[in-house]
Amino acid sequence: MELPFAEAWKIKMVEPIRKSTRAEREKWLEEAHNNIFMLKSEQVYIDLLTDSGTGAMSDRQWAALMMGDESYSGARSFFEFKDTVTRLTGFKNVIPTHQGRAAENVLFSYLVKQGNVVPGNAHFDTTKGHIESRKAFAIDVTTDEAKDTQLEAPFKGNVSLEKLEKVLKENQGNVPFMVLTVTNNTVGGQPVSMKNIRETSELCHKYGVPVVMDSARFAENAYFIKIREKGFENKTIKEIAKEMFSYVDCMTMSAKKDGLVNMGGFIATNKDDWYEGAKKFCIPFEGFLTYGGMNGRDMAALAVGLDENTEFDMLDTRIHQVQYLAKKLDEYGIPYQRPAGGHAIFVDADKVLTNVPKEEFPAQTLTCELYLESGVRACEIGYILADRDPVTRENRFGGLDFVRLCIPRRVYTNNHMDVIAASLKNVFDRRDSIKHGVRITWEAELMRHFTVQLERIK
Ligand code: F0G
Repeated sequence: MELPFAEAWKIKMVEPIRKSTRAEREKWLEEAHNNIFMLKSEQVYIDLLTDSGTGAMSDRQWAALMMGDESYSGARSFFEFKDTVTRLTGFKNVIPTHQGRAAENVLFSYLVKQGNVVPGNAHFDTTKGHIESRKAFAIDVTTDEAKDTQLEAPFKGNVSLEKLEKVLKENQGNVPFMVLTVTNNTVGGQPVSMKNIRETSELCHKYGVPVVMDSARFAENAYFIKIREKGFENKTIKEIAKEMFSYVDCMTMSAKKDGLVNMGGFIATNKDDWYEGAKKFCIPFEGFLTYGGMNGRDMAALAVGLDENTEFDMLDTRIHQVQYLAKKLDEYGIPYQRPAGGHAIFVDADKVLTNVPKEEFPAQTLTCELYLESGVRACEIGYILADRDPVTRENRFGGLDFVRLCIPRRVYTNNHMDVIAASLKNVFDRRDSIKHGVRITWEAELMRHFTVQLERIK
């Protein structure tokens, strides 16, 4: 018989996790103001808050860690890391930062001016935050396909070229760059096709606008291109990734995702003027140019992680696990953004909690219910995360309201996926009895979801 699919690694080290009682969870969630970011990790059984910095490093990465060079300047570990980035992406200038948003902060400090317009395929919240805090405007130009969660399309992360061209045309001279996010986290970890990457860049360049690739999950994107896009089936992940980067002018990276490290990030570009400009902000914000917020050992582990995670088997293992969970949800009839994304399943909360009005935040409510059910911590990627409109200060209800079940890399087994699916099914089965959501009692002006305080509406 044909052998079944199995992980491309075996486990060398384990970390115990603990179940809790419903009564304990009720108390803990109340103390956390119904915001799962405020929970202690010991209060969580299976943690799907994020895939960011939560992955398991390999034996090779731990070995590299021991070899880290902690010199303040000119560290060997920096050059190992920089050379790996250059080999994988083709970008020769590399600025290390402590994580992705720090890369945004450094680069945008140089590039973004008040009143600028920065189009993108659903900017991640920190990206949007770094644009809006500079009194510039982040305009979403994602394809409309992404809005229909039940539509099966291979590249729902794509840019709508019509929407993009409209923005470029109407704001000539006022668009410092465009942000192309791969995969598109906000709409469900959905990939962007090579064709769309190429056409987006061509269009931007026609208007003299450079493209910055937000590359947090570039390897997962490359995997989907290999699996789904004609002409790429025989190319390696490394070849595909390099082609993706060849069309754009710069990348910002949260290495905590596809870099397989717990902390780290960088900017890479061939634009010498941008490199010179961004450098000036790296030194005061992040640190000297050969460490920029990272330890030498972290850069050493990152160099290995980037190489490892651009190998097919590693990505195939990961995406299979996400798809395994998706299949379970299919069995139970639970609606999510189809097809399953690269790093997560995005449950369509509005379609589950149909009795909870959007003003009462269905996805946040479902996140709380899932935690109370079993101690599984998911994350709202919806109306709370969308923040208020910077001008009108109204809640932004225009997008999608998801509960993200985000899978850390190389951390959980498919038995854990079974528990997650069963927990969600139990909530799903009693969905009609959930009639009220949550109300905000305190919120920050920007990126409110991290610290928001909520009460359950009785
Ligand atoms: N860009 C994307 C697409 C992201 O998903 C993230 C982080 C960032 C930039 C910022 O990177 O966290 O290293 O500062 N996403 C995490 C998440 C937090 O849970 O999706 P960072």
